[in-house]
Amino acid sequence: MRILLTGGAGYIGSHIAVLLLGLGHEVTIYDNLSNSDRSVLGRISKIAGKTPDFFDADVNDSDVLEGVLRNQNIESVIHLAGLKAVGESVSYPLEYFKNNVSGIISLLGAMNRANVKSLIFSSSATVYGNPSYLPLDEEHPTCAVNPYGRTKLHCEEILSDIANSDSSWRISSLRYFNPVGAHDSGLLGDNPSGKPNNLAPYLMRVAAGTLDHVVIFGDDYETLDGTGVRDYIHVVDVAEGHCAALTELGDRELPFNVFNLGTGYGHSVFQMLAAFENVSTIKIPYIVGPRRPGDVASCFASTEKATEFLGWAAKKTLKDMCLSAWNFQKNRSF
Ligand code: NAD
Ligand code: UFG
Repeated sequence: MRILLTGGAGYIGSHIAVLLLGLGHEVTIYDNLSNSDRSVLGRISKIAGKTPDFFDADVNDSDVLEGVLRNQNIESVIHLAGLKAVGESVSYPLEYFKNNVSGIISLLGAMNRANVKSLIFSSSATVYGNPSYLPLDEEHPTCAVNPYGRTKLHCEEILSDIANSDSSWRISSLRYFNPVGAHDSGLLGDNPSGKPNNLAPYLMRVAAGTLDHVVIFGDDYETLDGTGVRDYIHVVDVAEGHCAALTELGDRELPFNVFNLGTGYGHSVFQMLAAFENVSTIKIPYIVGPRRPGDVASCFASTEKATEFLGWAAKKTLKDMCLSAWNFQKNRSF
């Protein structure tokens, strides 16, 4: 099958590209490189032994997208392109709505015109907002508490409405919890431009000495040690979830469905810091700062639905996540 990965040059997309190429699919990456680097294409090729086609373009350019869908004979799209930092979204909400919400409208228009109606969307656990119970299952009410989460929620509403209007669509929205870790080769990993917003890449850069210390965003939450608890999941497990979702999409009756991609376990910021210190054998300096606007105390997944319908479950441990992330950090001379 030929699959279009919007945002495929990014952290999660590059791991998906490697897996899909390994499964014998043909991959086209469409990315404006706003948070990634062209060199990732060579690294994908080195691991997979095959080169994905690449278009340096914006998802808001609907005509270009339509041309790519038609000319490349795309059968399915995995839509990862978007902005993803919770804190940044509070400061720059319009950028988030433009990239994420206008972006998906542009994509859906292009797909409709090109008659490509199979789509997997990168959603997020942030759509659940402040949990009223844990673990979060897919039936939990959605109520995003920050602009980033609201963009993902709007995207899901649009997808649901599109699927209701035309039953030939097959759409899955995958709600990722917190992807961390890297490819075993050390060639792919979380490599954001500029200062990282997410905890794991920040910890890695402090351990490597390129940043002084990590600021822990609040230690007064109602959690085991006062710091935020998240469901960290290995990025390769997340990528495998997409392969399982693609297979399920081809077999099912329902036009639209949502699935959590998480492990079912939560870890605090202090636990993550200790885990990274263990694998790197480096003391990671930190200070405790105020809470970050838009953050919730705890968030972890119920994994039952994904296991039942996708036949998928995360396999890798927290140690695998930390070791592979550290290996990638040490290898970052490419
Ligand atoms: P990433 O920033 O590494 O990758 C996103 C890619 O999209 C980048 O290569 C960027 O250049 C590209 N992009 C952004 N805006 C674009 C646009 N308008 N047109 C074309 N390309 C564009 O992020 P990631 O961690 O790989 O995340 C991928 C998706 O998964 C995002 O939609 C994100 O919101 C979602 N998600 C990520 C996480 C996470 O913690 N990493 C968690 C939940 C959901
Ligand atoms: N944190 C710190 N210091 C930092 C960065 C983060 O203490 O420098 C804390 C946060 O307060 C939170 C935890 O570490 O408690 C994880 O924060 P991240 O920024 O790594 O992740 P988030 O849970 O805020 O958000 C991530 C992605 C979103 C996605 C969400 C899904 O960035 O795209 O996971 O749960 F939607």
